Parts: sequence; C-alpha cells; structure tokens
Amino acid sequence: MAMARKFFVGGNWKCNGTTEDVKKIVATLNAGDVPSTDVVEVVVSPPYVFLPLVQSSLKPNFQVAAQNCWVKKGGAFTGEISAEMLVNLGIPWVIIGHSERRALLKESNEFVGDKVAYALAQGLKVIACVGETLEERESGSTMDVVAAQTKAIADRVTSWENIVLAYEPVWAIGTGKVATPAQAQEVHNELRKWFQANVSSEVASTIRIIYGGSVSGANCKELAAQPDLDGFLVGGASLKAEFIDIIKSAEVKKNA
Ligand code: PGA
Repeated sequence: MAMARKFFVGGNWKCNGTTEDVKKIVATLNAGDVPSTDVVEVVVSPPYVFLPLVQSSLKPNFQVAAQNCWVKKGGAFTGEISAEMLVNLGIPWVIIGHSERRALLKESNEFVGDKVAYALAQGLKVIACVGETLEERESGSTMDVVAAQTKAIADRVTSWENIVLAYEPVWAIGTGKVATPAQAQEVHNELRKWFQANVSSEVASTIRIIYGGSVSGANCKELAAQPDLDGFLVGGASLKAEFIDIIKSAEVKKNA
C-alpha cells in the first residue's frame, strides 16, 4: 500500500525583494487557484524582515518559513535570529542547511545537524537541505555526500516527524540545469533506502523528500510524477506567478 505523503511545495525567496515586491507576490499567491490543503502543503520563505508582513497577509492555506535560525538559545550572537524568536512570532517552519549557507557561510554537516535538532526541540518544523556539488557527482560520490549530510541530522534527532528533507543538487540550484526526473528519482530512492537501513522502515516510507534546483512551471509535472518525489523547494520561480503552476503539480500525485 502506498503511504500517504502529502505533497509539499516550498518557496525559498532567498535574499530578494522590497516591501512592494513582497506585497505583489502575496497578492499573486492569495489569488491563485491552488489545490486544497488536503492535497498540498505550501510554505513560503521570505527574508526575516518580511516574515510578519507575509504571515499576516497570506491566506491561511499558505504557511511561512524562516530561511535560517541560530544553532542554540539566543543571547550575545550579533546578527542572528533564534529559534525561540521564530516560535514567539508563530512562524511554524525553518529552512536549515541550504547549500548557499553550507558553501558561502561554511556551515558544516555537524553544525547543520545541531541546528536542526535545536529548532525541532523548540517546536519548529524543519526543511532540511542536502545535495552534492557537480564535482562530487562527477566523481561518483553523490550518495556518500547526501548520506553523510543526512546522517549528521539523524545522529542528533529522535524523530523525523517534523522534518521535510530537500534534495537539492548544488549544480542545479539557480543554474537552469534541472536534474532529470530519473536523476532526482534515483537519489530520492537511495535516500529512502538509507533511512530504511539506518533509521527505520517507518521513517523511510513516511518522510517527505522534496526536490530543489531549477524547478519551473515547465518541468514540475514530470518531476512530480516520480514515485519517491514528494514535492519541491523552489527558488527563482517562487518569486513569479509560475509558482502557482508548481503548486498545482501536486495534482499529478493525486491522480497517480
Ligand atoms: P532555484 O533554487 O529554484 O532558483 O534553483 C532552489 C533553492 O535554492 O532552493
């Protein structure tokens, strides 16, 4: 029997937008003819400073996520935002371990794992990101890399219930070079096998594994049809009206 994993579409706005832009995106989302929350869970992630505006103006069928949070309790950490603050504002989700932070801000697997564990312990839900670079893929170490990134999280958490795992090959992010459906399916399936062998068969069958990297209105349906792919984390296209089409690709699963 196929497990019911609700389709999940995240919109990662990254470090983009003005108040005006944000209002326009929210208006587009609110006007969008999207499937019901029984079919798809939609979570958009504006920059911190716009979180209250977006949260208060979005329709309740959409949720919000922060793009990061601090690794432990707040205090003397200039420039950081703590998980407690997100909870205080009623922000339900946080993205942790995005490849841009891993690469540019040198966040290690262990640091990412610590952040995931801390955020979960505060009651946040986490979109945890993993993915290999082009060099790693070409050297044949894709699975070793994503397994090590996933293991650093598994070593620190006791439940995967509030985690969505985003497989985002670095070479596909922001490049227009989307993974083929077969490439994505292969890694998602390997990750599920990894959970089966290293965590539990229950987690292997219930965890949502979403794909990210140059997802667009044009390529989302074919990707969504892959059996081990449970949704998307969308960057560039989440700032555009085509994000609505990507949300609608959840229908592909419903009719599968
Ligand atoms: P992209 O970004 O859709 O612009 O490739 C995806 C991501 O970084 O989450």
